[in-house]
Amino acid sequence: NKLSYKIVYRPLCNIAANLFNLPENYMMKFWLYHILTWPQLSFVAEDERGRIVGYVLARIDEEPESKGSEVTVIHGHVNSISVLRSHRRLGLAKRLMILSQDAMYEVYKAKYVSLHVRKSNIAAIGLYRDTLGFEVAEMEKKYYGDGEDAYVMKLQLKSQS
Ligand code: ACO
Repeated sequence: NKLSYKIVYRPLCNIAANLFNLPENYMMKFWLYHILTWPQLSFVAEDERGRIVGYVLARIDEEPESKGSEVTVIHGHVNSISVLRSHRRLGLAKRLMILSQDAMYEVYKAKYVSLHVRKSNIAAIGLYRDTLGFEVAEMEKKYYGDGEDAYVMKLQLKSQS
């Protein structure tokens, strides 16, 4: 008995004001910095009445190819993704991730996308590993404020077309 909403995906920069309603506690300037700097990478999903039911917030980073190397690699990083409880398991997060990943590749020529996820987050790890093909690159001990470890997960990017 899945919900039959018609979901609209929009670039997140078009409706920055609505972000106050979202379940993340980032400061507004953090959202705005990302939206203004990399406007192509962040999206929201809206239901038929224009209510936001999910979002992805992402950025571009540049890192040395290997330790000490002067050659850098451009890559995308997903800061945060969330879908309202009432709208989960409908494929929204998968779609939001793919929209952002495609833009990282097409607009910024990003080589890969990375993210941090709590070791205990079964749903998100399922999304990244099983649905999108991410792999665990490393573990960061006590990454989160409450002491939980994070997996750093990565996915090599390639053209979808
Ligand atoms: N248990 C196991 N696997 C799951 C679950 C779950 N509860 N939810 C999703 N998945 C996996 C499945 O493989 C699923 O495919 P399937 O439905 O065909 O089996 C696949 O992910 C795709 O699911 P979607 O429907 O696209 O995911 P959804 O829209 O429900 O959103 C999300 C997943 C974002 C993790 C959601 O549960 C959520 O908002 N959780 C709270 C916030 C959160 O944890 N965000 C991620 C933090 S890490 C970060 O932001 C970088």
